[in-house]
Amino acid sequence: MVGLTGVRKKKTAIFISGNGSNMKKLIKFSKLRNSPICVDLVLSNNKKANGIRYLKKTKIVSKIFNFKNNKDEEKILKILKKRKIDLICLAGFMKILSRDFIKKFNGKILNIHPSLLPKYKGLNTHERVIMNNEKFSGCTVHLVNSKLDSGKIILQKKVRINKNDNPKTLAKKILKEEHMLYPKAIKKLLSTT
Ligand code: GRF
Repeated sequence: MVGLTGVRKKKTAIFISGNGSNMKKLIKFSKLRNSPICVDLVLSNNKKANGIRYLKKTKIVSKIFNFKNNKDEEKILKILKKRKIDLICLAGFMKILSRDFIKKFNGKILNIHPSLLPKYKGLNTHERVIMNNEKFSGCTVHLVNSKLDSGKIILQKKVRINKNDNPKTLAKKILKEEHMLYPKAIKKLLSTT
């Protein structure tokens, strides 16, 4: 697919596990004429993910895998190769990809994490941030390497924490920012590669 600028849009696969609100925003973004990506495929480890249900209303192909062993990854790599996927966006994807898999897509896998990395890697970020009485949190889009939430940071957005924020209200506030940050980070990455 060719975008407004005459440049071929990068074929993108999104990996999800749950709600898929970031996925939906990326799909919306990909449909803009000047977007550098087109969403070609969505993979999930969870067939009951809300995001997968949503895709039934679209023409985007979705596939479910356990992501439990190398065999699954081999099958996935074959599909990604066959569909000529250029970019992978992890969006609320709760599985860890193998070192080998990451190597094969080196510099082409992005993730969004709900904290100001390198602070608060891993799970339950909002609970930990609130417990530590932090004044700010935020979200980060980064490249994926073999260490958890540790690849090169592409973009971050800071969010102020109010006195009466709890993990739920903070998650909601940050998610809203994630939806804007992910498209911006993709534009930034693709304009420099
Ligand atoms: C987001 O907060 C993302 O940063 C984290 O998981 C959440 C996924 O939300 N990794 P959604 O599935 O995109 O709605």
